[in-house]
Amino acid sequence: MENTFAKTHAVSHSKAGARTGMSPIGAREMLIAEMPELEKLLKAENLSGLTGRIIKPRMFSTINNLYVLRRLFAEIKPERTLEIGIAFGASAVLFSLLHKAHSSHPEGAHQGIDPFQISDFDGCAVKFLKDHGLESIFRFHYKPSGEVLPTLLTNGNRFQLIYVDGSHLFEDVFVDFFYSHRLLEPGGIIAFDDTQDPHVLKVVRFIRNNYSEFYEELSPYDYQFGHPLKLKVKSAVARLTSSQHLTIFRKTHDGVRKWNARFNNF
Ligand SMILES: C[S@@+](CC[C@H](N)C(=O)[O-])C[C@H]1O[C@@H](n2cnc3c(N)ncnc32)[C@H](O)[C@@H]1O
Repeated sequence: MENTFAKTHAVSHSKAGARTGMSPIGAREMLIAEMPELEKLLKAENLSGLTGRIIKPRMFSTINNLYVLRRLFAEIKPERTLEIGIAFGASAVLFSLLHKAHSSHPEGAHQGIDPFQISDFDGCAVKFLKDHGLESIFRFHYKPSGEVLPTLLTNGNRFQLIYVDGSHLFEDVFVDFFYSHRLLEPGGIIAFDDTQDPHVLKVVRFIRNNYSEFYEELSPYDYQFGHPLKLKVKSAVARLTSSQHLTIFRKTHDGVRKWNARFNNF
């Protein structure tokens, strides 16, 4: 199937500038292009849950994150993706729609984990996915990631893209990484949200300092929408001030460290 997003994106930067004489297009427009369902979700003032409860959505992944994830997806064309932390489903809907656009998408191509989907969100994300014909693509796990990930591994699952956006406690994010490393195929991407948070940043530093033999880090600013020079400045400032929100690693090869491998402080 034709990758229309990649094609559209190829002209996005020139479209964004006034030089073309066209009205400027922003990250939001680029993100939701050909995705009316995602636009509807992001614009929703209220969502209805499985019991009919009306809830005001909050804590969606940012437009920037979703835009970068969309571009990463277009680049690596994953067959199977995994997401930890669903909330109201912004990234779950994005991934499910991206899989749907590929004619060969397998059932359950996108799997998501969130123990609080029913108790805290009244199943709003599940309902939205169901109401928009995405339920066969999306497989939900209603338990904490620390319980689901080992089972996914035992059952032989592998993924090409993993988005970590669940519990932000150091110990949980560390466990998310421990298992994601084993579940991710070589060449696959793992992206962490909220890496300005000290808990999450600590795990990112562990990977940088102890797992560099397995990962190369990609700059999210290479995938963001905007003027390349401005993005370069933003990237440098974020790195210096440890305020980068999204941190992305590409796995170079499989393997685990030897039990007595060197420990580098992080
Ligand atoms: C920031 S929100 C996720 C936002 C979502 N990715 C989006 O794009 O809108 C974090 C989510 O992580 C979930 N969460 C908390 N602890 C978790 C755990 N141990 N395993 C999986 N998800 C968890 C919360 O219930 C919450 O829905």
